[in-house]
Amino acid sequence: MKAFIFDLDGVIVFTDKFHYQAWKKMADELGIYFDETINNRLRGVSRAESLEIILEKYEGEPLSGEIKAQMMEQKNRTYRELLATMTPDDVTEEVRETLKRLRERGHKLAIGSSSKNAGFILDKVGLTDAFDAVSDGNNITRSKPDPEVFVKAGEFLGVNPKECIVVEDAYAGIDAAKAAGMASVGIGDASGYEKADYRIETFGELLDIG
Ligand code: G6P
Ligand code: MG
Repeated sequence: MKAFIFDLDGVIVFTDKFHYQAWKKMADELGIYFDETINNRLRGVSRAESLEIILEKYEGEPLSGEIKAQMMEQKNRTYRELLATMTPDDVTEEVRETLKRLRERGHKLAIGSSSKNAGFILDKVGLTDAFDAVSDGNNITRSKPDPEVFVKAGEFLGVNPKECIVVEDAYAGIDAAKAAGMASVGIGDASGYEKADYRIETFGELLDIG
């Protein structure tokens, strides 16, 4: 494989808890029921689609597009305050070392994330220079399981989809990789997903796949 394309949240860093806290604050203020089980459904899903999932529990008057935009803005403000507390210690030595070794072997590395905060997160944890390209929520119009984010990552790297392998923790991300014509590795939540070409428990196992 010429290139590895990594999802960010749940693969390189663990920002689930921050998404949860930020959405929870918004939901509580509006009296909308929200819990960890609903939060798990937001994995790999865009901000706008996440809001729609949360609003399934909303029983009030219909909300205008403008109000929804304000809700997303409020959530993102809280989320970014939480992200701002991240430091390089939020990335394990195993992840850092594995990325370095894959690169030394000549693989190109990219991020393929639905998040619009990917650049900010990479900066906070000191990983900006670890990747050759970043494809994220800012350069796509459709989110996973649509393949767009990975197709773009491959294009940014100048690597054919057949020579790319995607590392994902979300089922929707594995489906997106397949739709892009790329191989896939399931980790974390997706380590038991039968559609993944490879399933791993620890990040370092990527060194046995490349
Ligand atoms: C990732 C996360 C999702 C999140 C999405 C958008 O895919 O797994 O939970 O909703 O990014 O994140 P953003 O930072 O743009 O709100
Ligand atoms: Mg993820």
